[in-house]
Formats: sequence, C-alpha cells, structure tokens
Amino acid sequence: MSTRINIDWSRRLHEPFVYAALLIALGAGFTFGALLGIARALGLPIGGWYSALVQAHGHAQLFGWVGLFVLGVGLYFLPRLRGTTLQGISRAPLAWSLLVAGIVLRCIVQPLAGFFGASEISSALFMLSALLETAAILVIFSMLWQTTRTAKPILPDTPVYSIERFAQIAFVSIALAFLLNLLGVWNLVSQAKSVVAPRYDQPIVTLFLYGAALPMIFVFSLRTLPLFLRLPVPTRNIWRTFALIYFLGLVLRILPFLLAIVDDALMLTERAVRANFIILLLFDALAVVGTIILNTCILFFIARLNFFQRRQLAEASHGARANYADRGEYGRFELLIYSAFVWLIVAALLDLLRVLPILNERIFVPQDAVRHALMLGGITLLIFGMAVRMLPGFSGKRAVAFPRLVLWMFVLGNLAVLFRVLPTFFGQTDWTAGLLGLSGIVGWFAVLLLAINMWKTFHLK
Ligand code: HEM
Repeated sequence: MSTRINIDWSRRLHEPFVYAALLIALGAGFTFGALLGIARALGLPIGGWYSALVQAHGHAQLFGWVGLFVLGVGLYFLPRLRGTTLQGISRAPLAWSLLVAGIVLRCIVQPLAGFFGASEISSALFMLSALLETAAILVIFSMLWQTTRTAKPILPDTPVYSIERFAQIAFVSIALAFLLNLLGVWNLVSQAKSVVAPRYDQPIVTLFLYGAALPMIFVFSLRTLPLFLRLPVPTRNIWRTFALIYFLGLVLRILPFLLAIVDDALMLTERAVRANFIILLLFDALAVVGTIILNTCILFFIARLNFFQRRQLAEASHGARANYADRGEYGRFELLIYSAFVWLIVAALLDLLRVLPILNERIFVPQDAVRHALMLGGITLLIFGMAVRMLPGFSGKRAVAFPRLVLWMFVLGNLAVLFRVLPTFFGQTDWTAGLLGLSGIVGWFAVLLLAINMWKTFHLK
C-alpha cells in the first residue's frame, strides 16, 4: 500500500517530525486556537478553563508545531551543512517518542485540569509530561554533541561559518525553554494549579519565537532564498557580529523574567533581588532595550535579503519560471514566503511601537497582536513556504504532489492571520469576535492542506 508509514530514520529523519508537527497542530494547536476564538465569539464566560486552554494551545503550537518542525528540519539540514549526517541516529526514534508523548500528554492534561480543577493525578501527569519532554531534549542534545565531534572544523571560508551562530542560538534557546518548562511545571505542581506562572511561561514563549524560530529563519533564508527566489547573495562577513548583537537583545529581553525565577530559588533564604526597586526598574528598562535591538535586527536582516533586487536571468533555462529556479512544480510557494516576510515586518514594527516611549502612549498595540502577527503570519507562513519548497527534495522527490493547493494555503493562511490580528485593535464587538472565531477555522484548513500535500508528496513514487 502506498500510504504505509515506513520510516527510514537515517535518510528521512525529517518526515516523522513533520508528521508529528502537523498532527499536533491539527489535533491540538489550531483546534484549541479555534475553540478559544469560538468561545470568545459566543461570549462564553471566561473562567479558569480559558487560561488553561490558552496555555495548552501555546504549548502545542510552540513545542509541537514550531518546535517539532524546527527540530526535524534542523536535525536533517544542519549536520549536512557541516559535511556530515546526524550521529547516534539509532536514538532518534526514542527522542521523537518521548517528545511527542510529552507534548500530547500536556495537551490532554492541561485543558482537563483547567476545566475540572487540579488534582493529584493531574499534577502527576503534568510532571510526567515535562519530564518526558526534558528527557527527549537530552537525547537530542547527546546526538548533536556526537555530531559536532565528528563534523569538519568550521573555517572562515566555509559556507556554514557565517550562519553557525544562529544555529547555536536556536539550540541554546530550545534547551533553556525546555528547562524553564520543567521548572515552571514543578512550580505549578507544588502549588496545585493548572496554569504555569507567567514568569516561566512568558520567557518560554519569547525563547521559542525569538530564540529558536527566528534564528532558524535567518539560517534557512541565507542558505536557500538566494537560490529559490534568485535574490542577490547577501554579504557573508556581517552575520557573526549580527548574531551576537541579536543574542544580546534576546538576553536583555528575558532578563526580568529570569530575575523573578531567581527570586523563586532565593525564597528559602527570605531574600529577593526584585525587592530592590532600582534593580527592578533597571531590568525593565534593559528589557525595552532588548526588544528594540531584536526588532531592529529583524528589520535589518530583511532589508539585507534585497527582495527588490531580484537577479534577472538572461533566459529562463529548461522551462524554469521567469526569475525562479523551478518550473512551478512547488506551486506558488514564493507567495507564502513573501507574505511571511511582510508579516514579520508588521510584527517587528508593532513590537517597536509597543515599547518605544511616547509613541506607545499614543498608539496602543496589544502584545497578542504582535505575537500572532509573528507566530501565525511570519513563522507559520514561512513554515508553509519552506515545507513545500524544501521538504520534497529532503525526501528525494522533485515536486509537491498538489502544486495548486499551495495557492490555497497562501489565501487561507493570510486570511487566518488577518482575522486573528485585526480584531485585537478594536474592542469586543460581534464582528471582532466573529473574525477571531473564523480565524481558527480558516487557519486549521490551511494546515490541513499542507498536511495532505506533505503526506502525498512523501509517498510519491
Ligand atoms: C488561527 C490560528 C490561531 C488562533 C485562532 C489563536 C488564538 C489564540 C487565542 C484566542 C489566544 C489567547 C489570547 C488571550 O486571551 O490573551 C492565543 C494565545 C496564544 N497563541 Fe494563538 N492562535 C492561533 C495561532 C497560533 C500560532 C500559529 C501560534 C504559535 C506558533 C500561537 C501561539 C500562541 C501563544 C504562545 C499564546 C499565548 C499562550 C500563553 O500565554 O501561554 N497561536 N491564541
């Protein structure tokens, strides 16, 4: 049967990760998002269940949808950039199973605990899910460690030299996010709650978005977009310094939360760093500086990709589309990529408006708007675009199974972002609530189209 799952982990490691990312997105992440939107559209009373469902949605989307996708594609692609393949591959099924089990368990236990109230059983299952996820990431890091030791040394003239630091930032951020998740769940269990405290939850969101997803976007954009979109090859010598500045911005942005966590640890000594008002103000100011640095870096990066200076080909070769490297066998994937970058710019500008003194007093920008412009617009649409353009090649195929579906993914994906972001700027009315509800449903169908396309593509003869 052609649709049998028969995974060759050593050559097609990305496939199980992509399948799991898609199934968790469809079964939990986007479904919970749609339920939250519909609940608000129907004006249901917002109780404890709502915050628990919001966090379960965030967890499924970040650890499941974005995390599994980034890990699957990164573990396949990054070792190859260093002239090797992932070592210790026999441990990959174990890492995958632990991770998927941990995420699925969390997606089940958190909404139930929010609805029926936390109990000893829910606390035990919460802890189990965080332990499974931590164990998974330790196994993954053991494979990466083994791989780094066998890889060729990185010399300044090798292509990977300029982007190596982005990959390091991504993996350090993922490790820290998993650690904070473990600590946050421990804290939750010790207080018999169903929602992780914001001082743990918020830096996890920031680390996934700005620490893991964006640096991986930088890596893939620099390595593949000049070819896929015929862009001029960006200058290579600036990215290592750029990565350091970007990392500084990230550290500054999460500092206030880390300080609050340090205070948790100091509780036994009855001391608290944040009891000092000056320190508190200083760290909040540094977080604003960090946010400005991060968003300026994102805008600078997009400017350096030179989207408006596409290389003109003397003549389209072998029937290739004018100015592209393909003949349309990946559908209109470029529309997904262009629109993702437009949403990235929107998210960066909105985030700047949110923190810049004086301006933020005049224009109110909800954090929810910035985050979903980034997560659903920038990151999800880019995952869509990169998936249809790159993954067939990873699996040894020369096309996606249904190129025409890609245009529909573009239309539905962008409508979902618009419906999700626009209403946040207006008060709660019938039409804003309706759009929010619709956003979840439309977004879910966009992911379904990607899932159908990837499933069929991976099984093409
Ligand atoms: C159409 C799709 C989506 C819908 C309808 C949706 C809906 C929502 C809603 C209603 C909230 C709660 C907002 C509040 O009450 O403050 C929320 C929060 C959140 N969403 Fe989404 N969302 C969608 C897509 C995404 C995607 C693609 C991601 C990540 C890649 C994501 C990650 C998050 C996160 C991290 C939070 C905050 C969770 C927390 O505070 O712990 N969402 N979303």
